[in-house]
Amino acid sequence: MTPVPRLRAYAGPALLTYGFRPFFLFGAIYAGLTVLAWLPMFYGELEVASTFAPVDWHVHELLYGYLSAVVAGFLLTAIPNWTGRLPIQGTPLLVLVVVWVAGRIGVSLMETLRDFDYGVAAICGGMCSCATCHVYVGERWLDQLPPMQGDEKEILQELESYRPRGSRLSCQVPFEESLDGIQVAIAPEE
Ligand code: FES
Repeated sequence: MTPVPRLRAYAGPALLTYGFRPFFLFGAIYAGLTVLAWLPMFYGELEVASTFAPVDWHVHELLYGYLSAVVAGFLLTAIPNWTGRLPIQGTPLLVLVVVWVAGRIGVSLMETLRDFDYGVAAICGGMCSCATCHVYVGERWLDQLPPMQGDEKEILQELESYRPRGSRLSCQVPFEESLDGIQVAIAPEE
């Protein structure tokens, strides 16, 4: 009987052999740093460049930074064990880690809207696949937004509520200080 392979032929860094390795490592380091940063932030001695108030930043980063890393590491390792599928390793795993790191540095418009309870469902969590973060951006802000990338336009064009001028997936719009005061309307649910 031929044994079922558990890993692909892979000769890269050991860190990228299993999903739990980078995500547990970086998640744990990040949790430590987040907690260390929290006290000086709480006492007003440290300011982090963020659109969130300090307490919101802290909650946000523990939930969407630390917890998401731990869950990702667990699922990327457990699912191949449960299903017999080969795990994600090497470059695809590195891309996921880079996306997670990018999420720690930048906050999207969707996250800002969601955290302030503006009624954005964002079911896919910002993976550009659900369109439940569809918004209409006010005319005068449109030119300040980064151009659409990847699947965003394709997904939007499939919606009945799509407007060629104004529609954006808010998870694909990084929220920067220059967008402070941006006017958006939440598109109707489909
Ligand atoms: S959150 Fe799913 S597409 Fe934006």
